[in-house]
Amino acid sequence: MMTAAGVSADARGPALLDIRDLGIRLTDRVPHRVLVQDVTLSMHPGESVGLVGESGSGKSMTVKAAMRLLPSNAEVEGSIEFDGRLVDRFSRSELAAYRSSDVGLIHQDPRAHTNPMRTVGQFLVESVVATRKMSKREATDRAISLLAEMGIGDARRRMDQYPHQLSGGLLQRVMIAATLMNEPRLIFADEPTTALDVTVQSEVMAILMEQIEERDLGMLLVTHDLDLAAAVSDTLVVMYAGTVVESGGAKDLYADPRHPYTAALLASRPSTTQVKRLVSIQGRPAAAFEVGQGCVFAARCPFATELCRTDRPEMRLVDGSHVACHRAEAIADDLKVALHD
Ligand SMILES: Nc1ncnc2c1ncn2[C@@H]1O[C@H](COP(=O)(O)OP(=O)(O)O)[C@@H](O)[C@H]1O
Ligand SMILES: [Mg+2]
Repeated sequence: MMTAAGVSADARGPALLDIRDLGIRLTDRVPHRVLVQDVTLSMHPGESVGLVGESGSGKSMTVKAAMRLLPSNAEVEGSIEFDGRLVDRFSRSELAAYRSSDVGLIHQDPRAHTNPMRTVGQFLVESVVATRKMSKREATDRAISLLAEMGIGDARRRMDQYPHQLSGGLLQRVMIAATLMNEPRLIFADEPTTALDVTVQSEVMAILMEQIEERDLGMLLVTHDLDLAAAVSDTLVVMYAGTVVESGGAKDLYADPRHPYTAALLASRPSTTQVKRLVSIQGRPAAAFEVGQGCVFAARCPFATELCRTDRPEMRLVDGSHVACHRAEAIADDLKVALHD
């Protein structure tokens, strides 16, 4: 089977994270609401994958599933393996070890995920002292040196401060340091800079990428920002309405998108200066439970035919990209013209 990156699993060794045919539905109401369907995504050690799509496309749900953090009314199908082990089968203690030592999670809003009553030092040190049998002394030294690596001057003094004494950008650096305390192999970064002031977004992103590269960590970057994802990822996975519509090498996908949705995302970026033919994506993004039998993007797609409205396209390989579009070959030239003229 092909991986999300379009390279067979064998060619790059076993995957670190392997999500297959993931489906997530909420069962507290009838009919059940489907939030995610048929999401397949695999990441290799040290690989950076950008998971891109508009708000509501199921990105955060996918990450929550990978960390087994979904609400109790969520029913999951498909499989998620980390390092060859099914995350679903983890015992309580294996799950705790997985969340604290194998993977790390950086949230969009660092303030919502820190305790206002605990100092930076307590926040950084307590969890690792509990899980890793690091002495308090060692953990404190490690925290201080990590803060310094995050470009936080006066790290010792910062250890005694409370979250409200830190700016959003500083607090997000503390969060990055917190995920690195236990030396994970994979970081989930869910819109890590979206809530920050524009002036510090690129600074925090640069610090995160520096750490990822220096430590050769895998990163799943969740973002609505295709430019950002393309700039920092090896591989891009584009989601729409709870499913993957296109995936491939970041450079190729960015330069030469094969799915009309990816092309529309590229054409509608605020940074785009040229007048484009695919000026905007008509209509609003759909949720998985709102789309019918056909292609998830059919209602907004300028190229949709009757087949697109009735039959869900399978993911298939077209010129090196994985794309779920019946018309990928037929519209390739139109997409090029729309984006590059
Ligand atoms: N706790 C929840 N209960 C019900 N629906 C939810 C919940 N969280 C998210 N959703 C819905 O699930 C879909 C996917 O959400 P999410 O994964 O958060 O999207 P994204 O991260 O791509 O913006 C959306 O339609 C959203 O409204
Ligand atoms: Mg989200």
